[in-house]
Amino acid sequence: MNPTKLLGFIFLIFIFSSLGDAGGGSWELLLQNAGIASMHTALTHFGTLVLLDRTDIGASLLNLPDGTCRNDPLDLMLKHDCSAHSVLYDPSTNTVRPLTILTDTWCSSGQFMPDGTLLQTGGDYDGATKIRTFTPCDPSGTCDWVESSTQFLQEARWYATNQLLPEGQQIIIGGRRAFNYEFLPFSSLGLVNFTLLAATNDPEEDNLYPFVHLLPDGTLFIFANRDSIVLDYNTNTVLKTLPTIPGEPRNYPSAGSSVLLPLLSANQFLTAEILVCGGAQYGAYLNPSQQLLCSSTCGRIMVTDAAPIWSMETMPINRCMGDMIILPSQDILIINGAQQGSQGWGDASNPAFTPVLYSPYATVGFRFTTLTPGTIPRMYHSTANLLPDGRIFLAGSNPHQFYSFNVEFPTELRLEAFSPPYLNDTQSVMKPTIVAAPQQVNYGAPLTILITTPVVLTGLIEVNLVSSPFVTHSFAQGQRLLSLDSSGPVQTAENTYEITATAPLTPMIAPPSYYMLFAVNQGIPSIAAWVQLLAPI
Ligand SMILES: *[C@@H]1O[C@H](CO)[C@@H](O)[C@H](O)[C@H]1NC(C)=O
Ligand SMILES: *[C@@H]1O[C@H](CO)[C@@H](O)[C@H](O)[C@H]1NC(C)=O
Repeated sequence: MNPTKLLGFIFLIFIFSSLGDAGGGSWELLLQNAGIASMHTALTHFGTLVLLDRTDIGASLLNLPDGTCRNDPLDLMLKHDCSAHSVLYDPSTNTVRPLTILTDTWCSSGQFMPDGTLLQTGGDYDGATKIRTFTPCDPSGTCDWVESSTQFLQEARWYATNQLLPEGQQIIIGGRRAFNYEFLPFSSLGLVNFTLLAATNDPEEDNLYPFVHLLPDGTLFIFANRDSIVLDYNTNTVLKTLPTIPGEPRNYPSAGSSVLLPLLSANQFLTAEILVCGGAQYGAYLNPSQQLLCSSTCGRIMVTDAAPIWSMETMPINRCMGDMIILPSQDILIINGAQQGSQGWGDASNPAFTPVLYSPYATVGFRFTTLTPGTIPRMYHSTANLLPDGRIFLAGSNPHQFYSFNVEFPTELRLEAFSPPYLNDTQSVMKPTIVAAPQQVNYGAPLTILITTPVVLTGLIEVNLVSSPFVTHSFAQGQRLLSLDSSGPVQTAENTYEITATAPLTPMIAPPSYYMLFAVNQGIPSIAAWVQLLAPI
């Protein structure tokens, strides 16, 4: 490159980096006081959100229903506590209903089962081996947590990761000093030793909340600290050992985040790419007073290649504790977190207010767009979940061990929503509306939907299925997007079109569960319809 070109290039970079929040997006405060500071959040197929805190944090600002109280002589703050530590939020009425959770869910894990029941496991103290279920109901119903007193995890799991498997079971991997995995419902495999977790343990214990992604061939990608493998979980065989990612440790307490990039029918669902972004410098957790800068890098790897390598990219903003959310448009939103420090009580500062959009199919160097910054710090113990209307639901942030309100970063009870740029009114003319869609579909079956649009369609409509993950500690457990093969649109009436897609061929591509089905017109998504992928008989 000659000097003139080089100068021009530098100028271009300057223009792009000075655009600031040019990418748009908008914020709204939903509720001033949710009662609890959610550290685990999941969206049910009734459109309600389950929010979970921990039970030994002191009194929340909402009481348990029916005068229920907990008496726990081991509790850290309140041995007699009548307040709720889980709530159900209903976006349609903007209200919360207290739920009854009695054992400690602190740093627990979870995921939805094929029938839409939320399975939630582990935690600390009396919750360490607990198995809990929440079977969602109509928003007017009274569904609540059930905590099993007969079945327990085989290992105490604090900071584990769950993943729904093609067979409809969940695998529960790791946790503090738990270098093994197990299955629910129980499998004859029992408790299986897992060497990756022992090998990636360091004095900070940077191997917690491992990043787990189900690959489309039914194997698991598992990442801890800076190392990752592809595992056959049935035989506990390591099928591939991936190179160490450059840069910082990426898992708890040095949390970055990770997503499985959209799985595409255009590639016959044969390829799988992982993106890992952010993290904390090694030592940030051990020496919090230094407030070291968080990582500025993302690593991207095509796991299905014969010899995969990490391609590194630089984010516009240093970030740890960011949440990575797959949008229905197939872009990745990086939101929440801090620019200095690490996870842990009081261990971070300099909130990362500005969300960043990552466009996976854009040219390297042009993939990141900074969006409109928020105003509420969402650091340790905050969450982000995609809603069926395309907004991002944001909850929690409690950088303190107990509820604390008169401090620099108070315990956060406010609920917010962020609207990505695709919800901008100026584009509503492009927005499809789903007027008919099946509620259930079998693997490989035709999936026919009817949409309306304000304008005549000129191109293909994407049909994308997005799972509803269990979000905690900057990682969305079980998150995936399937971009289906679709034909049409065939006009059937004025402004009305029929589109026929093909449901995923196998439960390895998409395990049986409820998914949000979005019709996407040139990057602008419809409101989702829920569709259940039925387990093969
Ligand atoms: C919506 O789009 C218009 C036109 O591009 C832009 O001027 C405006 O700032 C956008 N608003 C938001 C909230 O992104
Ligand atoms: C699993 O690990 C434990 C603890 O390191 C060890 O005692 C046990 O023998 C191992 N089991 C197997 C089957 O390797």
